[in-house]
Amino acid sequence: MRLQNGQPNALAHRRAALSAEGATILDLTLSNPTRAGFDYPTAAILEALAHPAVITYLPEAAGPRSAREAVGALHGVEPEAVILSASTSEAYGWLFKLLTEPGDELLVPSPSYPLFDHLAALEGLKARPVPSFLTDRWHLDLGALEAAVTARTRAVIVVSPNNPTGACLEGSEWAALCDICARRNLALILDEVFSDYLLEPGPEALPTALAGGSPPCETYVLSGLSKVALLPQLKVGWTLLLGPNLAARREALELIADQYLSVSAPAALALPALLALAPALQAQALDRLKANLTELDRRLKDHPHLSRLPVEGGWSVLLRLPAIEEDEAIALRLLDAGVAVHPGHFFDLPSRGYLVLSLLTPPGTWREGLARALPLLGS
Ligand SMILES: Cc1ncc(COP(=O)(O)O)c(C=O)c1O
Repeated sequence: MRLQNGQPNALAHRRAALSAEGATILDLTLSNPTRAGFDYPTAAILEALAHPAVITYLPEAAGPRSAREAVGALHGVEPEAVILSASTSEAYGWLFKLLTEPGDELLVPSPSYPLFDHLAALEGLKARPVPSFLTDRWHLDLGALEAAVTARTRAVIVVSPNNPTGACLEGSEWAALCDICARRNLALILDEVFSDYLLEPGPEALPTALAGGSPPCETYVLSGLSKVALLPQLKVGWTLLLGPNLAARREALELIADQYLSVSAPAALALPALLALAPALQAQALDRLKANLTELDRRLKDHPHLSRLPVEGGWSVLLRLPAIEEDEAIALRLLDAGVAVHPGHFFDLPSRGYLVLSLLTPPGTWREGLARALPLLGS
């Protein structure tokens, strides 16, 4: 089996033991929006899912045209450039099948979303991290990225806004990435699932690469309902094809999609109505993200040895603390005090100096969790 099912990590183990003892944990890592206390328009969602056309099975590899038109209108692309899948994660799997052979490599500027290692391993691929560097903001190390290209490299995967750093690509980084990929014949995969959640974008931040016209390299932009409409349970993601050779690439990707036909009719047919509901849901999440950042800043004033990094966008914040203790030891200590956080090394950050918190956390838990955790973070 390509995916090693290792032992649960020490934190998961301790958390399970504490839960078994009946301990209440203040969870500052919550990433499931349906558990975050938002006010969902349940009747409208259920009505959207009850589209009369669901009764007829119409196997369409890219998804029904009405859904692709709605996604195309959202992103300003033609419906022909849209391929639906049952999640963004599934879209990654399809793209890896399209672009690679087992043994090939993918370059991933890190820190980044840890799922890539597993998704790559499932296709027999190696995801190679290329560390980004931090000054006043995170910068892609474009020189290191190009130097890391080998004969087996097939694609670069960038997440913007990034999970967990929140960093957005700048226009000049996007142009340089496109240039490297075009010259080195690499595909560019851009994950924009968090692009609706811009919090503190820098002056040069690119809210979406789709604004920049057609890129010179074969490009795939990914997003989906999980973040756009806070509805991960409906299992709809999409891939937008940009750049050269569109018709041939679309045909090849559709052929892969056709083997699965994985998007369910109720979810696909509901997509236009669900996307119309999305802005009101996003507004609730944005209010939460901003309020939690403000609360964090207020509390950090009492702990001058702690700070946080700017959050250009997304649902996470990086807490910085003196790099004198391993992050796992700190996270275990906080867990024993009833607070769950992610150690930075889960996301390829250095193993000292960073904790990752979810800004989606409900406000009461956030306040109480910070009040309990921050005084325990050394000085
Ligand atoms: C950067 C990023 N991409 C993709 C996903 C997965 O989205 P989906 O539910 O569509 O598979 C996540 C989920 O957290 C994510 O953080």
